[in-house]
Amino acid sequence: MKSAPFTFQIDLPGGCPTYFEHHLERTLSAMQGQFLDGAAYDRLIKNGDPLLYEVFEISRPEVAGELIHGVSILRPGKVGEEFFMTKGHFHTVLDTSEIYHCLHGQGMMVMETPEGEWAVEALRPGVVLYVPPRWAHRSVNTGQQNLVTLFAYPGNAGHDYGTIESQGFRKLVVEQDGRLAIVDNPRWLPPAGRA
Ligand code: F6R
Ligand code: ZN
Repeated sequence: MKSAPFTFQIDLPGGCPTYFEHHLERTLSAMQGQFLDGAAYDRLIKNGDPLLYEVFEISRPEVAGELIHGVSILRPGKVGEEFFMTKGHFHTVLDTSEIYHCLHGQGMMVMETPEGEWAVEALRPGVVLYVPPRWAHRSVNTGQQNLVTLFAYPGNAGHDYGTIESQGFRKLVVEQDGRLAIVDNPRWLPPAGRA
């Protein structure tokens, strides 16, 4: 890990940075139970478990003064009506934020708070998105090309995937009759109704 100032470049449209320390790949099988259409999910898994996204991360010490940052590359595709998406998470330290800069592709960021407030923001090249403290976040690729975003978040944030794994986000981004739509997730329960 570097201790002096450094720079790197992000090659576009591919999105691979010229410097990184950690490379993560998530295939569809890492998202079991997250897409509503189970039959469509099973068909894709049988046909070879496609790569959904990869993350190139510049790791930093997991302390408040540091910024962990990197590039997320989300492939285009759908499972039934739902577009390919990231797992999504709250930060373990809820009071930590994140910033995203969209570099390539078209997509949406789906967000919600523990209280059930929700927001969806469009991502296209040049857009900068600020995810405030307490907002869970998931990227969705609604386009035909890779969705490439640069992200940065505090070193002490951590990742809490459990809440989202159990019921998903309140809103789903889908294609219905050839049009993009934001619809209610039937699996989602309001905070008061959860076990
Ligand atoms: C980090 C962050 C992004 C995501 C990445 C993959 O806090 O929000 O770097 O980690 O887009 O998504 P997840 O982590 O939800 O699989
Ligand atoms: Zn995050």
